[in-house]
Amino acid sequence: MTNQPPAPEPAAAAETPTESTEFTAPGAPRPRTASRRVTLRSDLRASWPDGLVALLVTAAVFVLLYVRIRDKTSSTVSVMPFMADAGGFWMYFLSQAFGWSALLWAWGTVILGLLLSGPRPRWPRISAPRLERLHRTTSLNTIALILAHALFFGAELFRHDTAAWNSALGTAFVETFVPGGYGSGTGQIAIPIGQAALYLAVPLGLLFYVRHRFGPKTWRVLHRFVIVVYVLSVWHTLLYGTNVWYDGWFRTGIWLLQLPIAALLLVRLLRPARRSEKLPARPGATASRTGWALRLGGRLAVVGVMVALVVVVVSGNDGGRSVPPDDTSSTHNHD
Ligand code: HEM
Repeated sequence: MTNQPPAPEPAAAAETPTESTEFTAPGAPRPRTASRRVTLRSDLRASWPDGLVALLVTAAVFVLLYVRIRDKTSSTVSVMPFMADAGGFWMYFLSQAFGWSALLWAWGTVILGLLLSGPRPRWPRISAPRLERLHRTTSLNTIALILAHALFFGAELFRHDTAAWNSALGTAFVETFVPGGYGSGTGQIAIPIGQAALYLAVPLGLLFYVRHRFGPKTWRVLHRFVIVVYVLSVWHTLLYGTNVWYDGWFRTGIWLLQLPIAALLLVRLLRPARRSEKLPARPGATASRTGWALRLGGRLAVVGVMVALVVVVVSGNDGGRSVPPDDTSSTHNHD
């Protein structure tokens, strides 16, 4: 992180949806792209490069998961032995692969967002408008990857249902997309958590493109809650992912990956790009003392989260189930 002075408040011009950044200082040279209007269509067009990378990552993860299932080294088979026939459940494994790329893209886009709204780092040397566009395209791709993850899960349910096709389609839809529709095992909690992440991600991300209708300030306040989407996604993964079902380095690694997010969130809160979001040293310096206390509480809560993450990673006590003996016939209820 640099010691640059905080960026001034955005100029009124940044209130219109242009390629220019909300974080460009007034008076700073306008980027050549500044007059181009940002629309959902233009961002969707710009999304293909990182979308393509996401698909390649998903394909690589799918191959890895498939080989592990075939070789019977995957914990998915320990949890659900009926899945040992890799070919019979390839859509499920593809859904898992999309889940991992969705989580990785969510991680990346949250990092980019925090870099934009906190102090600008010295590295990577990338202009604010580019960083902002990358944040938007990775967000759009995250939503698409989550959708693909859910759709392949639903498609596998549909494929294995022996009822008439229309009834099977209805059941698969309800179990995949309707909160409370999935009625057994850990999925009763884990699936609604994933659905909540998806259903919040869509408005909190896409309202950007119509923010001029209800005010950019309202948009900014709403968009802050996107961190909840990320927390729900990680929670859903650690609760339900069969590849992180048991104790081990991979599960602990997922916890470890949350440390940079928490650290950047803290830096962003302590040194926000917008002056108006700074926490004054004394409560009397703000309009409301309650607001000041809440903002201080938020910063202390993030410090608490960081301490908890370090404890989890160092102790290895990360909520994973104990690894079963080799000859297990599953006693774990995943469903
Ligand atoms: C409609 C919403 C969602 C549904 C129906 C859903 C469904 C599922 C199911 C059934 C599993 C268990 C797969 C296994 O056996 O490992 C799972 C795991 C997982 N989900 Fe989701 N999910 C949803 C949302 C999300 C979101 C929002 C994310 C992240 C951005 C996500 C990321 C993951 C990951 C990384 C796993 C672990 C896969 C593994 O262990 O290989 N899911 N999800």
